[in-house]
Amino acid sequence: MIVLGVETSCDETSCALVDDGFRILSNPIYSQIDHEKYGGIVPEVASRQQIRKIALIYEQCLSQAGMTLNDIDGIAVTRGPGLIGSLLVGVNFAKGLAFTTGKKLIGINHLEGHLCSNYLEHHNLKPPFLTLIVSGGHTLLVLVEDMCEYRLLGQTRDDAAGEAYDKVAKLLGLGYPGGEKIDRLASEGNPAFFRFPRAVVRKDPFAFSFSGLKTAVVLYLRDKTDEFIEAHLKDICASFQQAVLDSLIDKCLKALEMHRIEHLAIAGGVAANSQLRSTLEAKAQRHGFSFYYPSLELCTDNGAMIAAAGLIRLKRGESSDLSLDATAQLGLF
Ligand code: KG4
Ligand code: ZN
Repeated sequence: MIVLGVETSCDETSCALVDDGFRILSNPIYSQIDHEKYGGIVPEVASRQQIRKIALIYEQCLSQAGMTLNDIDGIAVTRGPGLIGSLLVGVNFAKGLAFTTGKKLIGINHLEGHLCSNYLEHHNLKPPFLTLIVSGGHTLLVLVEDMCEYRLLGQTRDDAAGEAYDKVAKLLGLGYPGGEKIDRLASEGNPAFFRFPRAVVRKDPFAFSFSGLKTAVVLYLRDKTDEFIEAHLKDICASFQQAVLDSLIDKCLKALEMHRIEHLAIAGGVAANSQLRSTLEAKAQRHGFSFYYPSLELCTDNGAMIAAAGLIRLKRGESSDLSLDATAQLGLF
């Protein structure tokens, strides 16, 4: 079985082909660069770029795999959450293909797509396992009890982890998106330079909160001179990053212990963070759990993760009809 995955939920346009051994046959990704000058994603611009790119990326996807539409058994597409204008481009494109070919169509939750990205590279990964989904829009700790059976342990009460990175990068004049830039600067800074707060949500041990941390950075920077910030930029980045990662890692370790789970996977844009990966790798060795993370290309939004989720659901006999709609606010639960 070969599934086409279509992903257009935000500012990436991607189509991918994945076979039933979870092998990626092709996965071209176009990342929009137009938003940097606005300091954040402009939804109107994002959806117009999606409409310009989708057919080109689809053609590239088929030609890279040396295949035609006839070789495809099913079409999976992100139906939400995301920017509604961007989502509608992919959903309509996929519906057009399904309508003209009669092939099976399946709408996929973007968060489930991120979760499934680890199946593409770690063929030994099987439930039960814990997944931390950390992206620009979401921060969730999910217990994968069985294929497609999820239990939400905790999520953010306010900002997502990636959103905190992007907002702090903007405050520091680093531009958008900021995660990768902070990651790079932090690797040369002192994480103990300043102690920013680690939020604890009362009576909810696995809930995250990052808006207080962002405010703490604003207050810290308020009386600092430009010279001071420039001289200590790496230390400030490292101190901020330490606060984010302490909170993410602490909750992962507690959840593994409380639910007696031996496997941890991370997914989403922030899963690309070098210190998050290396710290969890070291913790895995020390505490005796196995740790999985996607390659950098599969951390950010891509069609292959949507195809992987589609493959699982189509094989279970699920499908969507041509009334499939896009939903901007869509939870995994
Ligand atoms: O999953 P993704 O591509 O899009 C969403 O679904 O949101 O994640 C993008 C987020 C951005 O907030 C970006 O700053 C963050 O991932 N990010 C990182 C790193 N690379 C990307 N955050 C921390 N460290 C990184 N190396
Ligand atoms: Zn995403």
